Amino acid sequence: LKTAIGKSHAKIIFFGEHSVVYGQPAICLPISKIQTKVTITKTNAPQTIQSRYFDGKLIDMPNNETGIQLLIKTILTELHQENVSFNIKIQSEIPSERGMGSSAATAVALIRALFHFFEQPLSHSELLRLADVSEQYIHGNPSGLDAATVSAKAPIWFIRGRRLQTVPITKNAFLVIADTGILGQTGLAVQHVKSQLASSTSAETAIERLGENAKSARECLTTGNFKKLGTLMNNSQNLLAKLGVSHPTLDLFAQLAITNGALGAKLTGGGMGGCLIALTQDKKTAQQVADILIKNGAVNTWIEPLKSPDHKG
Ligand code: MEV
Repeated sequence: LKTAIGKSHAKIIFFGEHSVVYGQPAICLPISKIQTKVTITKTNAPQTIQSRYFDGKLIDMPNNETGIQLLIKTILTELHQENVSFNIKIQSEIPSERGMGSSAATAVALIRALFHFFEQPLSHSELLRLADVSEQYIHGNPSGLDAATVSAKAPIWFIRGRRLQTVPITKNAFLVIADTGILGQTGLAVQHVKSQLASSTSAETAIERLGENAKSARECLTTGNFKKLGTLMNNSQNLLAKLGVSHPTLDLFAQLAITNGALGAKLTGGGMGGCLIALTQDKKTAQQVADILIKNGAVNTWIEPLKSPDHKG
């Protein structure tokens, strides 16, 4: 093809970050309105790439933490297309290192665009296998949750190594996503949890409880018990803070969200920065919470209806 496009979108982890690495279940939501797009155009020149980090020849790209260069190389080798000339343009609306899946979204959009460009079929499991090549770069032990959600259309129930399931949501509520503007540190956070597990049994208990919260949260989503869901979010936030992956700004935002009408709030993603999510019953309260967080330093907020894609209302 002369031009090919691949897309993906942001994600948030509702329940189960970190504990998912150790086999506990997680609930994750695709955020389809925040997108990443990769455009590949045939050229006569050497392979080039344009992104927010780099603009130049692919071979000159610093082997940065996203592992994008390695991913492209892997795909070209597997498809026997090492010498093809093209330009890869990566455009992303997802802020990077905020726990919203920007690196996985880039990988997924890129894989889709390359397979489209070479007119090759791509199964979902193949897509996830390849996304893992660059995700490995970030912390060496990715659960696969990020790549699964940035390529999903509906909320998912994820257990490492198992088949994905969707989570039906029967009633409507709202989530406020607030970006602290502080770079999250997924690699460091995953490493920190690993060392906590090696040295304390309370870390092990925290991981188990985070998994139990994900299980109870799934029930709440099916029954529409948002009050309990909020309590489970607060409890998960406390457990994640105990594991050492929160941040004073995330703790402050969680407190502010709750005192301003949210049913619950917690960090989302790797933590140590990044985003907070807060649950509200209605849109007006969501706006109120978003406004308060902006006043207190959030660099951006998004209000997302919490619902299954086919849900009306
Ligand atoms: C990062 O978005 C989520 C973590 O659970 C790591 C992983 O699942 O690979 C912290």
